[in-house]
Amino acid sequence: MVSGIHDQLTEVILQALPPLERKWWHTATIYQVYPRSFCDLNGDGIGDIPGITSKLDYLKALGIDVIWLSPIYKSPMDDNGYDISDYRDIAPEFGTLADFDRLVAEARLRGIGILLDLVVNHTSDEHPWFQESRKGKDNPFRDFYIWREPGAGSAPPNGLKSAFGGPAWTLDEPSGEYYLHLFSRRQPDLNWENPIVRREIYDMMNWWMERGIAGFRMDVIDYIGKQPDSSLVTDGPHLHDYLQEMHRETFGSRNILTVGEAWSATPGSALLYSGRDRHELSMVFQFEHVTQAWDETWGKWRPKPFDLVGLKSVLSKWQYALADDGWNSLFWGNHDLPRALSRYGDATGYPVESAKMLATVLHLLKGTPFIYQGEEIGMTNAAFTAIDQYRDIETLNMHRLHIEAGLSPEDFIKGANENGRDNARTPMQWNTLAYGGFSTVPPWIEVNPNYSTINAEAEVADERSIWNHYRRLIALRKSHEVIVYGEFQSWLDQHPDVFVYTRTLDRERLVVVANFSSRDVALHLPGELHCVGECLISNYEPVTSLGESISIRPYEAFAVLTRVE
Ligand code: GLC
Ligand code: CA
Repeated sequence: MVSGIHDQLTEVILQALPPLERKWWHTATIYQVYPRSFCDLNGDGIGDIPGITSKLDYLKALGIDVIWLSPIYKSPMDDNGYDISDYRDIAPEFGTLADFDRLVAEARLRGIGILLDLVVNHTSDEHPWFQESRKGKDNPFRDFYIWREPGAGSAPPNGLKSAFGGPAWTLDEPSGEYYLHLFSRRQPDLNWENPIVRREIYDMMNWWMERGIAGFRMDVIDYIGKQPDSSLVTDGPHLHDYLQEMHRETFGSRNILTVGEAWSATPGSALLYSGRDRHELSMVFQFEHVTQAWDETWGKWRPKPFDLVGLKSVLSKWQYALADDGWNSLFWGNHDLPRALSRYGDATGYPVESAKMLATVLHLLKGTPFIYQGEEIGMTNAAFTAIDQYRDIETLNMHRLHIEAGLSPEDFIKGANENGRDNARTPMQWNTLAYGGFSTVPPWIEVNPNYSTINAEAEVADERSIWNHYRRLIALRKSHEVIVYGEFQSWLDQHPDVFVYTRTLDRERLVVVANFSSRDVALHLPGELHCVGECLISNYEPVTSLGESISIRPYEAFAVLTRVE
């Protein structure tokens, strides 16, 4: 059915649209670094920028093109840097501006660009703008933030909720007004309706671009058009005006990459953000494949069992929707999500096979793939057992609120172990030394004890490792246009265990087959897929021909390149 709608859509689109203009980031692979947890070079237990620079050769060997750095700016670290107190300086625990410039220069020598995390929906409450703003109603910075009179009986102005739990409004006693914070109370929301705020942000972006960065990842960018008085948070009426203005005033004349984080994105809005004539962003980072598995009441804290048919339908829907315009970002994990291997694979029974399978499925889709640090070596969820091992503000807040609301502490820890953000934030596992070689002292968050077997050193050395599989996939995207531009089609949509899709460009067709289960599966393939060809990648033995019935092993995945007449 999806492809039926798709056919009608393409017919209309094909008449109207010239071929997609090629961009450098169409063939790029992006690697996300969470600086706090990547590499601690000065031995204080916290990852730092010199640590990242020291690992550039590792990233170069993997073959990635761009590093997305989670925030490195000055910050009280209420939300690990997503609360910025100075947009033009570096957090002292991460290093200095000179360290940053050196990272950019050293990365460039290796052909790697640096993508900064642009967090401009809100600042820290320690940002001088907010410090001024809260001084009083007449302060010139008052209007940089969103202040409102109390509601009846000095209650908050309305029922808007913070994403980290509790009301999105906090009363500031001296002035008797509430300010808006859609995240923690230490992350007051900027007022994008104020043109001076927008000007300040654009100047700051230009300042960073002058330092030679390759682009921006834009934090909760769908929030900036919010209309708090009507409780409208995402997709406000001026959202796209602001993005077009930003494009004009900052990166529009530069060949850089912009990716907007938008939990609210639909295929329709993604085309607004990233459509070819929109002059907004390169692509959006949307989460429908993630949220489709969340519980209606308890959200991610009580995930539903894994359902491949649902997952395939969401992934395919996005592939079809952005087939001819817009661009997809492709990812399994990031710093807010659990480890891909733990979430979608089998981290105990088939860690190597399933990690490679997941990588294969994702990297051969159309879009720009993102790798979250440690994914390329098969890192797994944290497996904490007590709430005091967690560090994440969201997990700690939600723990309190959900238990008050009736979720049992055991259920909460179970949910946090499956979906909490700290799963992705345990230190990168480099080798078998103490603390996985991340640091020489106890890190700010515990290392996963499995570093003795899961670590980068072992992975790089082993030809058959997960890491080497990622390296091959990244290289394939550069050597095979069909992976970059081929038309996507999914097959056997209702099959509960296997994902089959094709990518077709002119006469070339790539057939991708992946088993998401720990069972042997006997598969009947439709006639169109029977073929003989070259095996581009596999996680068991190479497969070069496909017939009427094939048998695939647990978590087996392969891609056969063939020709269509
Ligand atoms: C984004 C970030 C997340 C952060 C939030 C508030 O969702 O990815 O880590 O907590 O925005 O800035
Ligand atoms: Ca350090």
